[in-house]
Amino acid sequence: MTLLVTGSAGFIGANFVLDWFAAHDEPVVSLDKLTYAGNLQNLQSLEGNPRHTFVPGDIGDAALVDRLLAEHRPRAVINFAAESHVDRSIRGPEDFIQTNIVGTFHLLESVRAYWGTLSAAEKTGFRFLHVSTDEVYGSLEPGAPAFTEQHPYQPNSPYSASKAASDHLVRAYHHTYGLPVLTTNCSNNYGPYHFPEKLIPLVIRNALAGETLPIYGDGRQIRDWLYVRDHCSAIRRVLEAGLVGETYNVGGWNEKSNLDVVHRICDTLDQEAPRSDGRSYREQIRFVKDRPGHDRRYAIDATRLERDLGWKPAETFETGIAKTVRWYLDNQDWVENVASGAYREWLNKQYK
Ligand code: NAD
Ligand code: DAU
Repeated sequence: MTLLVTGSAGFIGANFVLDWFAAHDEPVVSLDKLTYAGNLQNLQSLEGNPRHTFVPGDIGDAALVDRLLAEHRPRAVINFAAESHVDRSIRGPEDFIQTNIVGTFHLLESVRAYWGTLSAAEKTGFRFLHVSTDEVYGSLEPGAPAFTEQHPYQPNSPYSASKAASDHLVRAYHHTYGLPVLTTNCSNNYGPYHFPEKLIPLVIRNALAGETLPIYGDGRQIRDWLYVRDHCSAIRRVLEAGLVGETYNVGGWNEKSNLDVVHRICDTLDQEAPRSDGRSYREQIRFVKDRPGHDRRYAIDATRLERDLGWKPAETFETGIAKTVRWYLDNQDWVENVASGAYREWLNKQYK
């Protein structure tokens, strides 16, 4: 038995693989293109582990994926590989179309061909689990009920539109070809190994570097935050017990405005790593130009996953954010290593 995990050098994929080996013996083959967001340092603790094989490469490279499937004969493929940053999709959507849509299509084609070669029992047991996002559902009005699995798709950014397209392809491969797929749509994750272009790690990094904390627009947009290891446990549970062809929303019932999140980080840092001048990190907050087409509110109704599969998040926002800030304080070398020349170029383009 083996899993093929794509996008495993990124934020959630790496957390998933690390957590997998903490509880399982089953081998994992990791496939990752190592874009700016992929970082082998995230998987460093697995060096020398004979059950982990890392392969650099693109999910859209059919020859490579066909070879990996034939050689390792996985019982499941878990697809994390994607371009994931909304602001980058606004500045340049093409990579998002290539990886999230075309890449997922090629991956599905390879998996469909491989699945066709399996015995009847192997076919029944096989799973293709596609990791997706709540952003495909669009934006909620204040007070509107949270997204259920029945909510219509209304993606608003090139990123969410490309993820929506990939979700539709996955669904169609089940409906048309019978491929045993599962899809998860998760809310905003945070935690260790989160690339510092995203709000929470960017704010922690900038605060400690004495830089400004940029808040888009009025900062009243709402996101529903889930600690990354809770997302990983939900994926494991869906892989184990999810109904083939179904989708599961994953969320932590933690709606917060961006301003509240940033205040919380500042207050935690004030306690854990006070500024040398004794003033609060809140003084570094600056309101900047809003994100074009900025979705106002996301909220996930995770009832189905809790009711049908018995999953519950282990962390509250308060415990999760405390662990996250501590991780960044203890791993500043990781932050410095990812803050490469290309990363600085991105910051200049986006915020100057
Ligand atoms: P990330 O950007 O940190 O990591 C993505 C990884 O995919 C990187 O390691 C990158 O090198 C790799 N990759 C990119 N293109 C590839 C390709 N063509 N072939 C192989 N590998 C490729 O993203 P993340 O935050 O870890 O998100 C992982 C998945 O979870 C994505 O599909 C994303 O849409 C989804 N998701 C993310 C969140 C979140 O809050 N971060 C929430 C819900 C769903
Ligand atoms: O909801 C799930 C999605 O969450 C995932 O599918 C995406 O891959 C992931 O990147 C994330 O998307 P968001 O756009 O919600 O995350 P981001 O961290 O970029 O922004 C969170 C909120 O903070 C959003 O309302 C924009 C705002 N923001 C972000 C940045 C980077 C700021 O106010 N200032 C900033 O500098």
